[in-house]
Amino acid sequence: MAGITDLPYRLLLRSFGCELAFLEMVSSQSLVHESKRTRRMLSSSAEDRPLGAQLLGNEEEAVLKALENIRPCGFDMIDLNAACPVPKITKKGKGASLLREPKKLRSLLDVLVKNSDVPVTVKIRAGWDRDSVNARDVALHAEDAGISALTIHGRTKEQGYSGRVDYAVIKDVKEAVSIPVIASGDAISPQMIRKMFHETGCDAVAIARGSLGNPWIFRDTISYLETGTIPERPAPGEIANTMRRHLDLICTFYGDKSGAILFRKLFSWYVKGLHEIRTVKEDAFRAQTREQMLFLIERIRNYAYRHPESAYEGFVLSC
Ligand SMILES: Cc1cc2nc3c(=O)[nH]c(=O)nc-3n(C[C@H](O)[C@H](O)[C@H](O)COP(=O)(O)O)c2cc1C
Repeated sequence: MAGITDLPYRLLLRSFGCELAFLEMVSSQSLVHESKRTRRMLSSSAEDRPLGAQLLGNEEEAVLKALENIRPCGFDMIDLNAACPVPKITKKGKGASLLREPKKLRSLLDVLVKNSDVPVTVKIRAGWDRDSVNARDVALHAEDAGISALTIHGRTKEQGYSGRVDYAVIKDVKEAVSIPVIASGDAISPQMIRKMFHETGCDAVAIARGSLGNPWIFRDTISYLETGTIPERPAPGEIANTMRRHLDLICTFYGDKSGAILFRKLFSWYVKGLHEIRTVKEDAFRAQTREQMLFLIERIRNYAYRHPESAYEGFVLSC
């Protein structure tokens, strides 16, 4: 997830059972004129494996140059983004726009496959809008280019991140291709993830928003798929310990000052569901230093859940 899945985030999620992760998408252009921000986005470590890099681009030359530039980083796979719905991206013919040009997408993938020494994958959506759902067609073109797997978000570009995920389209893609299919969309609880496997026959499920403030979703999903049970919700003390660990990772990576500021949004995600936590959350949004943030994290230990039952209770009903 752009703006979220940096190295600290990935390392934390891996400690909870995340088996494969991707960098935030990086634009091919920014890789050509590599900035400090881009270099930071490409940062990884030995424990941060296996790891895929995701490229955003629509020109063969730029994509190829980007591939050359990131080769020394030694990523385990290269993914091409044909799914991003943000207007400033699609207006330039990138991201989900490529769904409207399956042949162009195919030739971009051709170039990547021919020149990459690691597997190439693609991320697509169900289609551009509900009148042009074409994931099956796009997937077949992509497979022809020789990619090793594909991820499909079961919503159209028009839907963005809301509305129903179309399980039938994902199933259709899975049945049409012989490469592994990773399904994405509303993977926000172990129950919804199991539903995704059952409804679509996919080979893997990508967890995105479900991990915000809830790295336990990986542990819980593994347990649920293997035994049908979900471990107890983390106690506020355990949440505080995890937040401390995450803050440490962030401060080591970005420095204490930027780390504290960047942790603000994470703070509010972690404390979601705690009773009468609002003022602490507001204080966290004003915290300037690592020490102030640590002080607020310690306060979490004295709070309790508004609804002590499972974190996923509401989602059980909806699936
Ligand atoms: C803030 C945000 C940033 C995202 N950035 C990316 C990205 O860089 N590359 C990508 O392939 N998908 C990205 N996604 C899409 C997610 O990977 C996922 O497909 C989508 O959120 C649907 O899954 P979910 O409903 O389980 O969250 C992003 C989603 C969000 C909310």
